[in-house]
Formats: sequence, structure tokens, C-alpha cells
Amino acid sequence: MASSTNDARLDSSLLLLLERTREVYGYIPEHALIGLADALGLPVVDVYSAATFYRGLPLRPHGKHVIRVCKSVPCYLKHNGSIIHAVERELGIGPGQTSQDGLFSLELVNCIGACDRAPAMMIDDEVFGDLTAERVTEILAGYR
Ligand code: FES
Repeated sequence: MASSTNDARLDSSLLLLLERTREVYGYIPEHALIGLADALGLPVVDVYSAATFYRGLPLRPHGKHVIRVCKSVPCYLKHNGSIIHAVERELGIGPGQTSQDGLFSLELVNCIGACDRAPAMMIDDEVFGDLTAERVTEILAGYR
């Protein structure tokens, strides 16, 4: 049995390899999950768990623009459900999906640091706060 120090080293090595894989492919393909598990002598489920624990390690290709709508409590209390529905309606996709044209992916994420402007979302690296369904429509139009 590995010591906790060895476990920590293995965890950090695995995360570095997963991050490097994401840089190469833009996401973590299934063959890479299996290859990393094989190379490191880990169960595939452990590699999968490490990859899915971190929001920045997608398991599917993303669209050109990634929309991240905050699902945390402060945004929930400011009715983020209407924002999520507006994005879904505009793009015809749900969380975890990519639009047919490959332009947008939608994710629900924890706090993005704009709680004072809840409800909030990010498109790529840009933060949008004090959202309404109408504003979502306007914002998305600017990315088309
Ligand atoms: S809780 Fe939504 S941005 Fe912080």
C-alpha cells in the first residue's frame, strides 16, 4: 500500500498529466483516460474521478465559446433558473451539451466570483452579472 506522501505525489502527477492532455486535445478523450490509468497502474475510475472533480477538465470537446452559468446559492436566490432557461432556449442545448454548430457549450458551475452581481455567468473569460433573460439574449447575439 502506498503512503499518503506517495498518494499525494501520484495525485499531483495525475493532475499534471490530465492538464497536459487537455492542452493537447482541448478535452480529456476516453482513450487518454484509459491510457493514463494503464501507464500509472490505476483503476480507470480513479482517473475518471480525478478528471471530473475539476471543472476545467472537460470529457467532451467544447464549443468555440464556453458559457458557464453560476449555480451556487447566491445566484440561485437571485433566480438563476431563469438565466439557465434563457440560455437553453436560445441555444437549444442543456448543461453539458454543445450546440449543433459547435459555437457554444453550456456548463453549470459553482461560484465564479461575481456574487455581488448575481445572477452571473461567464462566456469564455468574460463575466456578465445582474443578468435577466432579456440580457442573455442580447449577450448571446453578440457572440454569433
Ligand atoms: S454565487 Fe454566483 S457568482 Fe458567486
